Amino acid sequence: MKLIYLFLCLVIHNVETMNSFAKYTLTQLDEIKQKSVIRGEYKDVAQESAGAIVFNSRTVGYVGGQKNSSPLRDAIYYIISGGYCYAGMSQFIIIDLLQTYQLNTIKVWLYDRDPTFIRTYDMQLFISSSDTNDQLIYESNISKSLTTIKFPDTQIKQIKIKNRGGSTIDQWLILLKIQAFYAF
Ligand SMILES: *[C@@H]1O[C@H](CO)[C@@H](O)[C@H](O)[C@H]1NC(C)=O
Repeated sequence: MKLIYLFLCLVIHNVETMNSFAKYTLTQLDEIKQKSVIRGEYKDVAQESAGAIVFNSRTVGYVGGQKNSSPLRDAIYYIISGGYCYAGMSQFIIIDLLQTYQLNTIKVWLYDRDPTFIRTYDMQLFISSSDTNDQLIYESNISKSLTTIKFPDTQIKQIKIKNRGGSTIDQWLILLKIQAFYAF
């Protein structure tokens, strides 16, 4: 017990010493911490474990069972059968985050397991917060595979992927995985 106490004293003493030499003031450190909180601590917030859900789940199709079809899961490499969700023509896949975060990057991974080529999709991506309307941040009729979308820092509560015109093969927009985070 005494040893632990001694150790803690040493750590605290060191932190204090470091702080007095650090290039940030306490106010600046507070700001950095607050920024980190509203930015989801710089982690992917479009995840089940971060409390995100597929908001319109009843109108989205799933292939691969409970554990292997949500775009918010981590286990994306189990692809024996299924492993994705899909939306029909003019339909959306809506991701609702646990709270509003300030983000600047979204990654979308579209189905790309065709044997001899990679299909392209006609899709749009919108973002919104509780106080703002949908804002279009990406659209392309040749979206494919892993697409990274960068945009200015924005408050986001919902992400909406719209199947505007299906793919080069059929009418479906097929999503394997989505990530949303703040990147430097
Ligand atoms: C994408 O849109 C452009 C401009 O409207 C069009 O010329 C092109 O043929 C479209 N490509 C596909 C794959 O639909």
